[in-house]
Amino acid sequence: MKKNITSIFNKNSKKKITCLTSYSFNFTKTIDGLIDVILVGDSMGMVLYGMDNTRNVTDDMMIAHAKAVKKASTKSLVFFDLPYVKNFNETKVIKRVKRIIKLTKCDGVKIEGNKELINVIKKLKKKGIPVMVHLGLQPQKFSSSNKYKIYGRGKFDLINILKDAKLLEEAGAISILLEGVISHVARQVTNNVSIPTIGIGASKYCDGQILVSEDMLGFFSEYYPKFVKKYADLSKIIKSSVQKYSSEVRNEKFPSKKFEYDQ
Ligand code: KIV
Repeated sequence: MKKNITSIFNKNSKKKITCLTSYSFNFTKTIDGLIDVILVGDSMGMVLYGMDNTRNVTDDMMIAHAKAVKKASTKSLVFFDLPYVKNFNETKVIKRVKRIIKLTKCDGVKIEGNKELINVIKKLKKKGIPVMVHLGLQPQKFSSSNKYKIYGRGKFDLINILKDAKLLEEAGAISILLEGVISHVARQVTNNVSIPTIGIGASKYCDGQILVSEDMLGFFSEYYPKFVKKYADLSKIIKSSVQKYSSEVRNEKFPSKKFEYDQ
């Protein structure tokens, strides 16, 4: 059964919200229903396409991947990331979100931004489109992940994020995603808003958690941020499977009789 958006994002339920990313059909089939929310993240630019940042992901790329994910998901809610907004314009942002929702039938959108999103959220809410706002470390602001900076150590960081979080809540945001935020700040935001916070590198104090699936499944062997816990080592499994396959093909062990078609 499809998860109910109102009960998932009900802060009073005290039930932690579980989220992961997906960009593809088969992977979504595998995780559908095991978690509350699947995010078609613009991290796809780096994870799938080897880009240096998330800025070159286009709306059409997002539409193609979100359609595949939505098609495979019958239980989890599916949100998509609004790709990079270069020169902020309220009308254009709303038009882009509405187009992607119309074509993908996703359940909601996540947008990186601050108080400039107030009217966008109000107008999308009127159209029945739930918005999750992405605060703290906002990857679209950086040209490379090497430059990412943890949020919350600046003198006015706590005051500013609390102000924004309250305004965005009042505007009608369904949730606040906090990325790369020091634990004290994440705790304060979570305790001062009545909508759930979803953390990534933002401590246990958030109302829910999200990770990039490839990170938590160990699909890369190089850089891992401090906040990622590896629940599997897929790279290792894939490498040893491919080595075994290569060796069996070379040694004529595969395909054996069992894999042949008879007359
Ligand atoms: O694009 C993404 O994957 C994200 C993360 C916060 C999960 O925005």
